[in-house]
Amino acid sequence: MSWYTEEQIEEVRAANDIVNVIGSYVKLKRSGGSYTGLCPFHNEKTPSFSVNQARQMYKCFGCGAGGNVITFVMEYENYTFTEALESLAQRAGITLKKIETDSRHKEQESIRMQLLEINRKAGGYYYAMLKSPQGKTGYEYLKSRGLSDETIRHFGLGYAGQGGANLYQFLKHEGYKDDILKETGLFKMDERSVYDKFFNRVIFPIMDVNSRVIGFGGRVMGDAKPKYLNSPETKLFDKSRNLFGLNYAKLGKNKNMILCEGYMDVIALHQAGFANAVASLGTAFTIQQAGIIKRYTDEVLLTYDSDQAGQKAALRAIPMLRQAGINARIIHMEPYKDPDEFIKGLGADEFQKRMDNAENSFFFETGIARKEYDTADPEQNTKFYHAVAKMLLEFEDKVQRENYLEAVAAKYSLRRDDLKSLVIRYGTSMTVNQGTGAAPANDINRAASNAKNQGIGYSYKLLLSLIIERPGIFNQVKEIVREEDYFGEPYRQVAQMLYRQLASGEVVPARIINNFSEADVQNTVADMFQTEFAARLGDEELEKALNELVIRIKEYSIDKRTRELADLNELKSLIQEKKALQTPAKLHIYLKDG
Ligand code: UTP
Ligand code: MN
Repeated sequence: MSWYTEEQIEEVRAANDIVNVIGSYVKLKRSGGSYTGLCPFHNEKTPSFSVNQARQMYKCFGCGAGGNVITFVMEYENYTFTEALESLAQRAGITLKKIETDSRHKEQESIRMQLLEINRKAGGYYYAMLKSPQGKTGYEYLKSRGLSDETIRHFGLGYAGQGGANLYQFLKHEGYKDDILKETGLFKMDERSVYDKFFNRVIFPIMDVNSRVIGFGGRVMGDAKPKYLNSPETKLFDKSRNLFGLNYAKLGKNKNMILCEGYMDVIALHQAGFANAVASLGTAFTIQQAGIIKRYTDEVLLTYDSDQAGQKAALRAIPMLRQAGINARIIHMEPYKDPDEFIKGLGADEFQKRMDNAENSFFFETGIARKEYDTADPEQNTKFYHAVAKMLLEFEDKVQRENYLEAVAAKYSLRRDDLKSLVIRYGTSMTVNQGTGAAPANDINRAASNAKNQGIGYSYKLLLSLIIERPGIFNQVKEIVREEDYFGEPYRQVAQMLYRQLASGEVVPARIINNFSEADVQNTVADMFQTEFAARLGDEELEKALNELVIRIKEYSIDKRTRELADLNELKSLIQEKKALQTPAKLHIYLKDG
């Protein structure tokens, strides 16, 4: 599970009050028994992020993020479970001692550590190679691209030599086994031979936010293809969650970040004094990357290549940035292709001017649409109106939408009222669609009847939440819905732990979350304890809903066990159980007892 004992984990969790910790990241306002604020994990203008001090848990009703104090630090800082725990221990002045367990988690953790170490050594090897006589070709190439020695050192650039297995030999010599070397993605291995993946390329180490090397990119020094070769995804390297240059860009107190396409763009910009540049690393920009950027800034200046492909990439990135709550503006680089070439051609001051004049992303989008339609043709002109109306709908804020409507109407001489009625038309059809999607979490009766369509996990969640709110019903419930009646992880595990806590009389749901080390599982678990509807319902309604839930869960369990039956002797008892369900009076759970 972790390098630490359950007791240690719980000690750290209990020593860090959740309101205190989250309050140091997010502005919280007290409202009744809980605290609310703007969710740091998605963009919003009205608070749907809530922290419950009694339960020591948080939950965002907008984006679904939730968990205990450890989950929060994991998600906010992009830490692993262990890293979050260690940072919270430090915060509370607790000294943690690692335990020696041979659990799988420890093994995974140690694989990560070894991979980090190997990557660091490989980076050092490539760098030393660049600086050595054998690295002359690479060094001269980087120089010819205008990089200073200081820049080369800052980014740890390197050179992979003439092929063969030089890096492999070096790492073998350092004592690493093939098993772990295979996982680095740095080698081509088969039964009979091993080759270094990178050769005859200059090397760009890819670092995570904490400046640890997690992968590499390599560029040929000519026109061969592929131009860039990158490390594959590994246990360390998740392309969709990293940005090249972020380890440096996050340090500056910049009011924005420059998002570009390539390694060389980031490096050239940093060298020219724009240390707030990052790149999305060859793969298409992702919503996760937008979320990561949002931790540091609310404004992104896009400098995608000025060709067709770059324009398309920008059109894809803008809505993702907007969704993450980031305002995007477009830096135009004509007549140059990318920032690297621009800086070489016109220099840093000119680039700064282009930054200052960066175009609002909405007008960038409408400008492209405008070119797409021949507005002299009435058919196409109508289509343009429709396209603009849909784009306006992306602004959730009414005032902002109105302002953009005025501005865009003026800019393209559009009939303002026509545009407005289109926006309203699209707007209503969108809200109708949205209305059927979300579950009404605050209404247990609707929720319980919805539960059928939501999957069994939803029923478990409602039942367990109810038991926590009304612990008095536990003794009745456990006679009918036993631990074995919960199926699937994390549900069964959670039910077992909660049942144990209830039996001992000490219920601490936040503690249960400690047992799961993946943030998304922690979210699911937290989600199981977040509903508080009992207080809002009359006993009669509540009792009805409760019994419906119990029957549904029991039915599901019986059906599942019947389908998976191995021993025919058990069939008889299953049939009996099923029969009992049909005479609900026997099984009825009474709230009054509780
Ligand atoms: P570009 O083709 O725009 O290259 O790719 P560039 O950054 O201008 O490179 P230079 O200036 O010619 O050296 C942009 C980015 O896309 C990824 C790389 O991250 C590159 O920096 N890429 C490109 C690849 O991963 N593989 C490729 O073959 C090409
Ligand atoms: Mn370039």
